[in-house]
This record gives sequence, structure tokens and C-alpha cells, in this order.
Amino acid sequence: GPAGPAGPLVVLVGPPGSGKTTVARRLAVLLGVAHRDTDADVERATGRGIPEIFVDLGEAEFRRLERDAVRRALAEHRGVLSLGGGAVLSEQTRAELRGHPVAFLSLSMPVGVRRTGMATNRPLLAGVNPRATYKTLLDARVPLYREVAAVEVDTDELSADEVAARIVAAL
Ligand code: S3P
Repeated sequence: GPAGPAGPLVVLVGPPGSGKTTVARRLAVLLGVAHRDTDADVERATGRGIPEIFVDLGEAEFRRLERDAVRRALAEHRGVLSLGGGAVLSEQTRAELRGHPVAFLSLSMPVGVRRTGMATNRPLLAGVNPRATYKTLLDARVPLYREVAAVEVDTDELSADEVAARIVAAL
């Protein structure tokens, strides 16, 4: 709003599988503005894909690049901005999000496991328990998403269009 800092019209946060990228694209069309995504910004800056960055440079370096990408996007972008699922792990990023119109796309563990393709009927190939892994991620991050968000939309039972409509209504 007018009292907040200049910046994106809306910022989407949430775990992998919450539909941030899809919903951000719908929102951008609905609102007639551009969409920017910090994962894409980091990929462009490094000339590498995200999985490659994790393998070649490591997660810590990815988080540094991501923090820079978020800061730059908050300063430069006036449309819809979607963040990588782990961006809120940075205390600096959480502080920089303050005053921005942030929407948290939430979902339950079973839906997250299904949407991310972590579910498997081949336990010997899973390496870890996907349900426990996703649950641990949710437990650690949900408080952080809530800390930065002004709006929370439970996406479990909603289409991307329905989620986008709720965000527009809440803006
Ligand atoms: C991550 C989520 C990914 C990407 C990276 C790390 C995370 O983004 O930034 O693989 O830690 O949750 P999406 O949430 O768009 O999948």
C-alpha cells in the first residue's frame, strides 16, 4: 500500500509444491503486470540450473546468490514476484520483506509430497522417507512464512486460478 516501501505489487512465498510459479503467472496476467522469479534470476546470474548450482557451488553459495537476488528484485520489480521456497530461511531476507505485500501459499504434507513428486512406491530407491523429509521442511519453515506474510491461502483444495483470485481479493 501507499504506506509501505516501493516494490512488487505482490510477493509469493511458500514451500516447493505450493504453486508459487504457476500462481504468479496467473496473477501477472490478471493484474496486467510482469512476473519475476528469484530462482530464474539466480539461474541467469550464474548461467547454471538450480540443481547444478547445488552440486557445483553448494547450498550455502546458492543461499547467498538467492539473498542478493531477492534484495535486487524487491528494489527493482513492480509486478508479481515469486521467491524460491527456502528464501525465507535468511533472516536478512525476512527483514527486507517487512512492509511488502507478501502472500504465503500453504499446503499440507501429503499434498506437498504428491505435488513435488516425492511420493514413491519403491522404498529402496527413495533413500529417505519423503513424508518425513517434507514434514521436517514444513515444521521448520511454516513459522517463517507466517512471519513475513500478510495473507495466507491454503492451496490444498484450490486450483491455481482460485488461489490467484483469493490473492487479488486480499490485495
Ligand atoms: C528450494 C526451493 C526451490 C529452489 C531450490 C531450493 C528450497 O524453489 O529455490 O531448489 O529450499 O525450498 P521452489 O520453491 O520454486 O521449488
